Amino acid sequence: MENRKVRLALTKGRIESKAVDLLEKIGYDVSELRNKGRRLILSVPGEDIEVVLAKPTDVITYVEHGVCDLGVVGKDTIMEHGGKFFEISDLGFGKCRFALAVKKGTEFYKGYGVKTVATKYPEVTRKFFEAKGIDVDIVKIEGSVELAPLVGLSDGIVDIVETGTTLKENGLEVYDHVADISARLIVNTVSMKLKQERISEIVRLIEENCDDKNN
Ligand code: PRP
Repeated sequence: MENRKVRLALTKGRIESKAVDLLEKIGYDVSELRNKGRRLILSVPGEDIEVVLAKPTDVITYVEHGVCDLGVVGKDTIMEHGGKFFEISDLGFGKCRFALAVKKGTEFYKGYGVKTVATKYPEVTRKFFEAKGIDVDIVKIEGSVELAPLVGLSDGIVDIVETGTTLKENGLEVYDHVADISARLIVNTVSMKLKQERISEIVRLIEENCDDKNN
């Protein structure tokens, strides 16, 4: 492995600012991260670490390939995508849940016909229903999944629920809980061995400062 700085991949978007807050709490200079413009690789002045910003599944890809040593990514992406890396810690922010939701008043588990479920997360959905021994047809949707039952494409959806506002405003409700979600710290398996001292130190700092119960 080449002699470069330790590289941390952060998921752009929803959990980005909380992750940057965490790095600041550790004592890192996050000025470049706060004023990044369109730059994708940011340095942390005075530290042997640089930060890469990427989409959720790409964070996993970069960490799996070892071009990033560490990553911060949602459990939702880990559950759907899987991969070969160590999931080291629950960072306690970005908390939400996967839920099965239906049009208000619908009894999803009643009746004999095979139900249709729309989702951005077919793998999570498949495993959830398989564990329950329920046969369903899964339709992959790319966004605003809540639309599917409203227009009659599906009987239900498996999606992320955070505040519940999107469901409520569209006449839908949670029917069953699928899984709790939060941001996780992941580490490349080879980096963990070859850069053990440096990585362990960063993991320790992150774990000490993520005060997971307060988020
Ligand atoms: C997510 C999710 C829900 C919404 C839930 O969508 O898919 O639609 O957030 O949040 P709430 O419970 O606080 O209303 P996102 O905003 O990521 O957009 P997308 O549906 O276009 O992917």
